[in-house]
Amino acid sequence: MSKLVAPSILSADFANLEKEIKAITEAGADWVHVDVMDGRFVPNITIGIPVVKSLKKVSSLPLDVHLMIEEPERYVEDFVKAGSDYLTIHIESTKDAAGTLRKIRELGAKAGITLRPRTPVEQVLPLLPLCDLVLVMTVEPGFGGQSFMHDQVPKITRLREEISSKNLNCLIEVDGGINAETAKICREADVFVAGSYVFGKDYRSAISTLKNA
Ligand code: DX5
Ligand code: ZN
Repeated sequence: MSKLVAPSILSADFANLEKEIKAITEAGADWVHVDVMDGRFVPNITIGIPVVKSLKKVSSLPLDVHLMIEEPERYVEDFVKAGSDYLTIHIESTKDAAGTLRKIRELGAKAGITLRPRTPVEQVLPLLPLCDLVLVMTVEPGFGGQSFMHDQVPKITRLREEISSKNLNCLIEVDGGINAETAKICREADVFVAGSYVFGKDYRSAISTLKNA
């Protein structure tokens, strides 16, 4: 089955986001991946609620918002109202991941959980019934353009087993260092996030390569 591709606009031209979104849309992207960083949960700072709101106005694709922020429970309502279709939180960033995931769904968005590379996958398994998406980080969150961490791949296999055996309705997404080669290694995933790989070359050929990985 063809994969979904979510280009990460972290690697796009921030002065021309509307143009970039139109370009990836025409090139066949399925979702737009938006990386939100607060300078506390991760060392980098990117964009916030007003930018998500502006992106929503110019995007016909779902916005897949990846929150790399402390205490996401304080902000999920604003991010859903701004137009996040999928809203993903880090398990390490909150004392109440379950409550925050429930809140995202109550607000009308799809809820996602993710984990840092050093966090064992077992920690997210009990949360999967509350999730529409589980994101496996294959780099340390914070920056685009890093190398793929092969040692994270068994997490995808473990999640696939869990989702199949419990008959859960949860997509597996992978994020970090995804390109033509690493996407093949992650073929059990449903959704590929890719920043530098898509925005670094011909958008259409990069997206179609990932879709057919
Ligand atoms: C990293 C972000 C990623 C990043 C991926 O913290 O979550 O979405 O943009 O960039 P690449 O595809 O270049 O590794
Ligand atoms: Zn991301």
